[in-house]
Amino acid sequence: MERKKIVAANWKMNTLHAEAITLAKDILTMTRLVKEVEKIIFPPFPFINDVALLLQSETGFSTGAQNCSAYEKGAYTGEVSCAMIHSVGAEYVLIGHSERRAYFKEDAEVLVAKVHRALAQHLKVVYCFGEVLNERKAGQHQAVVKKQLQEVISQVPKEKMNQLILAYEPVWAIGTGETASPAQAQNMHAFVRQCLAELVDTETATSMPVLYGGSCNAQNAKELFACPDVDGGLIGGASLKPQEFASIVKAFQ
Ligand code: 13P
Repeated sequence: MERKKIVAANWKMNTLHAEAITLAKDILTMTRLVKEVEKIIFPPFPFINDVALLLQSETGFSTGAQNCSAYEKGAYTGEVSCAMIHSVGAEYVLIGHSERRAYFKEDAEVLVAKVHRALAQHLKVVYCFGEVLNERKAGQHQAVVKKQLQEVISQVPKEKMNQLILAYEPVWAIGTGETASPAQAQNMHAFVRQCLAELVDTETATSMPVLYGGSCNAQNAKELFACPDVDGGLIGGASLKPQEFASIVKAFQ
């Protein structure tokens, strides 16, 4: 079965309003013709609405939020609910990003709550996971990934599995310029599918998109995307440069 090809832009806490709009427009112009790849842009919260408006009439483009609240609504000053995110035109939300886990101490309980909120609002979830350097050096990377998958996947009802996309982001490769080799990525992505087969079923294991993230750029994207179990990328730094991001989108061709 052909899985969707996806390249997603995680802008993190970068851009001001005008820059965000220009960047989204440039990405749109430069990647519009690459119809076989779905492009998802994750701008900072304040710019989601405008980016979503820009992309709404385009096929193959979607908008997402980088985070969401674990609460539904009410007296949670500063939080942004999944319903709010959905109401401004976003279709996706990132959950489990290593920066949220490390800097904001988001643990499995919080992540599961967020996933439930997102799915209830019909948002699709890009669930991120990956090991830190010491864990890889100690040969624990598969065990760590398995645990991160198990904690969340086991809590998602089977009929909602098609609202989930996975993103393997080894923490040692994020923003470091160091990328997983195609062999390392392929091995882990194949392992992720093995975990999905155990945790859910083989149908889910073969159909769920699994993206790679971590210093993915115009130079290494082609080799990474050529791996049979890698369905695209979640791009940080390189997604702020439209030309480079477009080259990554085109790496599938
Ligand atoms: P970089 O592409 O900057 O390494 O970031 C990857 C990432 O964290 C995407 O979510």
